[in-house]
Amino acid sequence: MAGVEFEFMKDGPMIVKKNGKMEFALCRCGHSMKKPFCSGAHAENGFKADSGKLELKD
Ligand code: FES
Repeated sequence: MAGVEFEFMKDGPMIVKKNGKMEFALCRCGHSMKKPFCSGAHAENGFKADSGKLELKD
């Protein structure tokens, strides 16, 4: 899974990227209307979470 990154947005979803290109955003707040993907609902429900990044290498 080289070239895959998981970027945790502050107070928002986890962005999955492959070779630097965004593939999709997964909900972390539990309130999405289109789970497992982020619907933007996190902005309305006061979700708080730290940012971070995880990169898979060879
Ligand atoms: S993180 Fe965006 S709707 Fe849950």
